[in-house]
Amino acid sequence: MLAPQAPSTDRMFDAAATAQMERIVMDLGRMYHERNEALREVSRAHHEALLRLSLAADFKDDDTGVHIIRIGYLAEALALMLGQPAAYASMLSRAAPMHDIGKIGVPDAVLKKPGSFNPDERAAMNQHPRMGAEILGRSRIPLFQMAAEVALGHHERWDGGGYPSGLVGEAIPLSARIVAVVDYFDALTMDRCYRKAFANDVALGMLAEQRGKAFDPAIVDVFLANAPALLELRDRINRQPPSFEALVQND
Ligand SMILES: [Fe+2]
Ligand SMILES: [Fe+2]
Repeated sequence: MLAPQAPSTDRMFDAAATAQMERIVMDLGRMYHERNEALREVSRAHHEALLRLSLAADFKDDDTGVHIIRIGYLAEALALMLGQPAAYASMLSRAAPMHDIGKIGVPDAVLKKPGSFNPDERAAMNQHPRMGAEILGRSRIPLFQMAAEVALGHHERWDGGGYPSGLVGEAIPLSARIVAVVDYFDALTMDRCYRKAFANDVALGMLAEQRGKAFDPAIVDVFLANAPALLELRDRINRQPPSFEALVQND
């Protein structure tokens, strides 16, 4: 019978090298995870700061600050009703509340003015899409790219008569076309400092009137076809507004 052999030096060296390699792989895995967590944290903080700035801008012409929350949820619901993927709709729900962030740079005397603007006031007001896109920056993060696209495009008109670029039809990004419709409807149905809210049926009629003029006809059609569900969603948000934190990036 043979005596058991002691492990060769080569075998011991192999085992030590393998153990060391496993440790390195584990360390790299942990570092990779920590790096991703840190990036997510930075991105969340960035999003929250921009949302708070949007809230500050919204307070300039809405006492409650709930308009931007409603716009997020209504834009998401409308995107889903239009057949857009859930991931797109979810990103839009977080991008849309920042549509008027550029109003932070518009004087209150213009924002709160009842009646029509003189040319200088009109020029100041028409700056807010570009200012918004500027504030949101040229980020590589898809959420902020979409938010900048929405801020820049939400006052373009389907018929080309909008601002700042006079884009026509589908040249206007879909995200901005969706937000334009919900923003118009929501603004009509809320009290402003210079007028009372319009009743739902009056506002729906005004939206229908803009089909193919200010707004994408297909989006207006889907909004009108789903009006009861959208109004119910709006009323639910008004009864119990979701927390501000619920809007902050969560992935
Ligand atoms: Fe706007
Ligand atoms: Fe708005």
